[in-house]
Amino acid sequence: MRRIPWWRDAVVYEVYVRSFADSDGNGEGDLQGIRSRLGHLRDLGVDALWLTPFYPSPLADGGYDVADYRDVDPRFGTLHDFDALVSDAHDHGIRLIVDIVPNHSSDRHRWFREALAAPPGAPARSRYVFRPGKPGERSGEEGPPNDWPSAFGGPAWTRLDDGEWYLHLYAPEQPDFNWRDPEVRHEFEDVLRFWLDRGVDGFRIDVAAGLFKDESFHDLGGQNRRVLNGPMYSRPEVHEVYRKWRQILDEYDGERMAIGEVWTDGPEDLALYLRPDELHQVFQFDLQLAPWSATAFRDVIVAALKAVAPIGAAPTWVLSSHDSIRHVTRYEQPVSVPGIGLARARAALLMLLALPGSAYLYQGEELGLPEVTDLPGEARQDPIWKRTNGELAGRDGCRVPLPWSGSAEPFGFSPDRVRPWLPMPERWAPLTAEAQAADPSSMLTWYRDALGLRRRLRDDLPDDLEWLDSPDTTLFFSRGPLTCALNCGENPVRPPAGTPLLTSTPLYGDLLPGNAAAWLTGP
Ligand code: BGC
Repeated sequence: MRRIPWWRDAVVYEVYVRSFADSDGNGEGDLQGIRSRLGHLRDLGVDALWLTPFYPSPLADGGYDVADYRDVDPRFGTLHDFDALVSDAHDHGIRLIVDIVPNHSSDRHRWFREALAAPPGAPARSRYVFRPGKPGERSGEEGPPNDWPSAFGGPAWTRLDDGEWYLHLYAPEQPDFNWRDPEVRHEFEDVLRFWLDRGVDGFRIDVAAGLFKDESFHDLGGQNRRVLNGPMYSRPEVHEVYRKWRQILDEYDGERMAIGEVWTDGPEDLALYLRPDELHQVFQFDLQLAPWSATAFRDVIVAALKAVAPIGAAPTWVLSSHDSIRHVTRYEQPVSVPGIGLARARAALLMLLALPGSAYLYQGEELGLPEVTDLPGEARQDPIWKRTNGELAGRDGCRVPLPWSGSAEPFGFSPDRVRPWLPMPERWAPLTAEAQAADPSSMLTWYRDALGLRRRLRDDLPDDLEWLDSPDTTLFFSRGPLTCALNCGENPVRPPAGTPLLTSTPLYGDLLPGNAAAWLTGP
């Protein structure tokens, strides 16, 4: 019998649906493709999948622009496919979390079309954020209602021909909802129930701190434009929404949960979302932002644990996602040392999995995939790339489809001769799941071994950890019978006493080499 709710120490695997597996040959991944690869995920040893949005969408932002919250985009399958996926995943012992996008819809959503068709001031406009423009101080010429920037570049407002402006914290194709309109609340409560009734185990809430904007709509002025507790994020009203969502989740059996994508200025602010009657978890992104440094990792871990401790919430850890540069590449400094990114990624996994709480993995990290930095401009689709005119590369480089088998594109991602929606590098031939499955020294084998061992140990691991003294450039900690030693330096160090259970690089005599980690047990 497991002693705690499943999500408190789960390993959750993020499936970027469009890039996971393409069953119907349109060059984009789909729900049937995921179904066909459940064996890979079971063998990997994950507890749950988080699916990125698969709802009808023009894909102005990879599906985070939802046109209909209660259906499946035909390119990704049907509701019937979804039901079959839930059922098969559960048969494989894998839970399913879906992404919910409440801050904004697509501009093709029925409500936004109605809003555009209605005149300024009409009730149909009150579901979104419309405002009159503001005369410029010097020119007198009308400009946006305030100076808020879009996260993807340019202003957060777009003007309509009738003179009103609408708010979009992301792309213009993603108008922000007005959460002060009760219809918006009711709609999302109903959407949650729609997916819960279909058997999902939880939700990942996109831009969870957005939703409410300060009613004064004041300029940011000199304020840091990325300020996360400013007028656009973490308004107090947002917590009422999550209290209601928690009640809905609790009405269902089977430990349904919600994890919020919450960016705040400090870890303490995160805790507000984790009060016992709100969200079960929030993403704690600081590990993903930290450089390869034992001091940096330790600081992040201490702060993350401190943030959740007073409320007894479970921390979450993440190294890569569909929004960030893959960590194998992030850790590849200095570039002159071949394989250093992979060695560090192997070691980082042991740190991640030894920590209390749950680990969120991103598809392809089990294959050691690097970021694809040389995608041609014409292939790139991220609105960040488009809206900054190529000044920022955007996130396509971590979204390249997964290589499953074979020696050339599409590497089993799509049926033969189909071109995947993003080109796959020929140099990925040795990285396919097929090539790695039979290789005891591969990244895939490493992930399976580490996840398998964690599964066997986890019921004996206490919620807290104990730091052990360790030399500079290293961090050592224990959780009950498990000790984790990470050496971020270049020189071998003596690990703490104990019998090695798993090491990311073979020990050097009885020393732990640089850029390596070990799990040990007992003195
Ligand atoms: C998602 C991104 C998306 C943005 C807007 C994020 O937090 O993870 O992929 O572009 O929200 O929906």
